[in-house]
Amino acid sequence: MADLSINFAGIKSPNPFWLASAPPTNTGYQVMKAFDAGWGGAVWKTLAVPVINTSSRYGSVNYKDKRMVGFNNIELISDRPVADNLREIEEVKKRFTDSAVIASLMFQTREEWHRIVRDVENAGADGIELNFGCPHGMCERGMGSAVGQEPKVLQTIVEWVMEVAKIPVIVKLTPNITDITQPAIAAKAGGANAISLINTIQSLVGVDIDNFVPYPIVDGKSTNGGYCGPAVKPVALNMVKNCAQIPGFNLPISGIGGIETWRDAVEFMLLGSGSVQIATAVMHYGFGIIRELTSGLNNYLDEKGFASVNEIVGKAVPNVTSWENLNLKYEVKAEIHEEKCIECQLCYTACEDGAHQAIGLREGSRIPYIIKENCVGCNLCSLVCPSEGCITMERVDDGSQHLTWKQMTAAGDIPTDFNDPRAGGLLHHANPTEQAFVTKRPLHYEAKV
Ligand SMILES: Cc1cc2nc3c(=O)[nH]c(=O)nc-3n(C[C@H](O)[C@H](O)[C@H](O)COP(=O)(O)O)c2cc1C
Ligand code: SF4
Ligand code: SF4
Repeated sequence: MADLSINFAGIKSPNPFWLASAPPTNTGYQVMKAFDAGWGGAVWKTLAVPVINTSSRYGSVNYKDKRMVGFNNIELISDRPVADNLREIEEVKKRFTDSAVIASLMFQTREEWHRIVRDVENAGADGIELNFGCPHGMCERGMGSAVGQEPKVLQTIVEWVMEVAKIPVIVKLTPNITDITQPAIAAKAGGANAISLINTIQSLVGVDIDNFVPYPIVDGKSTNGGYCGPAVKPVALNMVKNCAQIPGFNLPISGIGGIETWRDAVEFMLLGSGSVQIATAVMHYGFGIIRELTSGLNNYLDEKGFASVNEIVGKAVPNVTSWENLNLKYEVKAEIHEEKCIECQLCYTACEDGAHQAIGLREGSRIPYIIKENCVGCNLCSLVCPSEGCITMERVDDGSQHLTWKQMTAAGDIPTDFNDPRAGGLLHHANPTEQAFVTKRPLHYEAKV
């Protein structure tokens, strides 16, 4: 059995799974239940100045049979008194000495920051997370994403915190910014011990089309909220990767955003996350998902022959490069495995109308076939095909050649007009325009070579 324990910037935790700062970490009661169920750590619901929350406050994107594919909230930080939270942090830490409690904080003045940092340390917190991410309500008061979007202000506040902090400090970043590396670099310049990302993405999840108000509705009005849940995972993965690739950065990263399964968590780790945090999935399914998360991660590590979770952190980072470094000589084409085909013809329609007219139909058969010479290897048919493994993408070049756009540019050897045979589109097949409305077309057109 692999070792799941981590030491994240000095914060020790029996496994890399932490509850993100959100309603599941609102009280000592909940955090104790979570630790009892097996969670490695919990980032407490953000402590701050007094706030008033609205009713209602959540919205959801449901997709077909899956509810809460995307989740949106206009909730603020903790509305419970700081003193109650501090007392409960202390109670939790007395009972669960090995599980990590990280106090999430959002304050304004230097004096306030100094006081709260000392208070949470005295309460026994193992670490601190600075919430510079909240995209609604708090930014209007000069906190949350208002700080996270201003690297200089962020750096100054981190410096204030580091003046007194004796426990590790994590800076939580907002994704509502063009270049996520700027606040990450500012956090490091301010002396932070780690970063976490992402907080929620500014959003409107939908509109009540009968009453003309977006969701969630508060007495006939709405406001932008923060988007999270499975739908945000690709955005979060990309931002985690961007931070992991900052030259010389070397700060631990806690990955957050849309994690629901052990596989999601592994993906975040492979792209550089030393711990992962989860909010929406726990709000949806409860603390019990930790069993699947830990056993799934354990099995994965065992099967791959890794002795500890630390061995996979960042393993996929070197394999993400800029487009100009991709091998333009690598070529794949679609292949249909007829024995798995359920004859739905979704691939045919997708390629015919949405790609390169590289799938044909034979008289008397519903099983499509690939017109190899027209196929550009875009993957679309394999993505729409509902039968697992029915369409695979097969390599057709012999692997002997490697040429990138960057190499071509460096050699002064890039196509500069469309008649150049190396220019991408020239050899690609296009059906004759006049055939667009002809119902009895040939089964397929010859490729133009
Ligand atoms: C209802 C709700 C309240 C949240 N409150 C906080 C908060 O107080 N502080 C904070 O740093 N992040 C807060 N978040 C953001 C989460 O910690 C997390 O960054 C985000 O939801 C993405 O993770 P997920 O996709 O697992 O939910 C909140 C999220 C939700 C859904
Ligand atoms: S989408 Fe897949 S299952 Fe459907 S016709 Fe095409 S190959 Fe067959
Ligand atoms: S990979 Fe793209 S171009 Fe090739 S058959 Fe499939 S959809 Fe058409």
